[in-house]
Order: sequence, then C-alpha cells, then structure tokens
Amino acid sequence: MNVKIIDLPKFEDPRGNLSFIEEENHIPFKIERIYWIYDVPGGQIRGGHAFKEQEEFIVALSGSFDVIVDNGKTKKTFSLNRSFYGLYISKGIWRQMENFSTNSVAMVLSSTKFSEEDYIRDYSKFKGR
Ligand code: TYD
Repeated sequence: MNVKIIDLPKFEDPRGNLSFIEEENHIPFKIERIYWIYDVPGGQIRGGHAFKEQEEFIVALSGSFDVIVDNGKTKKTFSLNRSFYGLYISKGIWRQMENFSTNSVAMVLSSTKFSEEDYIRDYSKFKGR
C-alpha cells in the first residue's frame, strides 16, 4: 500500500517551532489545492471515499485524529497528532478520518484541483476495481 508517514523539517525555537513543506521535495507531487477540515463535532467521520487520480498529504495542524486507509485488501490506521509530520496517500486508496479531538485541524494538500468525477464514493465499486 503506497501510504507512508513523512517527517517534515522542524526548527525548534524557544520562540515557537516552525515546520514547512515544499512540493516535489518533502512530498512527491505538485500541490494543486489545499483544504482543511475543522470544527468537527465529536464522533463525526469524514472522508469515506477513494480517489481515481488524486494523491494527498494530510497534516494534523492542531489536535489529533485517525486516518484509516484501505487498499481493498488490508486496512491500516494512522494516528496524526503533531504538525511536524504527515501522511502521504497515493491514488486508489479508500480513506476515512475519525476520532477528531476538540479544535483539531486537518490540512490536506492535494495533487489535483477539486473534481467530483475523481471520487469513488461507493465501497463496493472500489472493491470491484
Ligand atoms: P468531501 O471531500 O466529500 O468531504 P470529506 O471527504 O472530508 O468527508 O467534500 C465535502 C463537500 O465539499 C463536497 O460537496 C465537495 C466540497 N468540496 C469542494 O468543493 N472542494 C474541495 O476542495 C473539497 C475537498 C470539497
């Protein structure tokens, strides 16, 4: 499964820490879009789909949440809770996000512009691919 945690640069400083991401350097794609998920009420689940083409990189900018990834054969859960690393997910992976802590912010860097056509929202279709 082409899913992996990528550690980001971290400049520790008594004034506060700093991390950054450069496209095609720290993450293996060009960034076409950035979106973020926030104000998630307790117990809610986001995601629950796969993408035909989109690759993405998810960072917990604040708080914590779990990302469950599934290639149709195996599932893995990654807990994201610090902003100096993130989870890279290649195309063709079913993914769901849950267990959001209060005030958590999930930043998603995407390799594509938004296109509903790129979504696979039906799990049985995903499995049958
Ligand atoms: P969706 O990707 O289904 O949310 P999640 O995977 O987090 O559960 O997106 C929710 C809605 O927002 C959907 O109607 C499409 C819209 N949307 C955009 O218009 N642009 C975007 O970049 C994203 C990510 C979603």
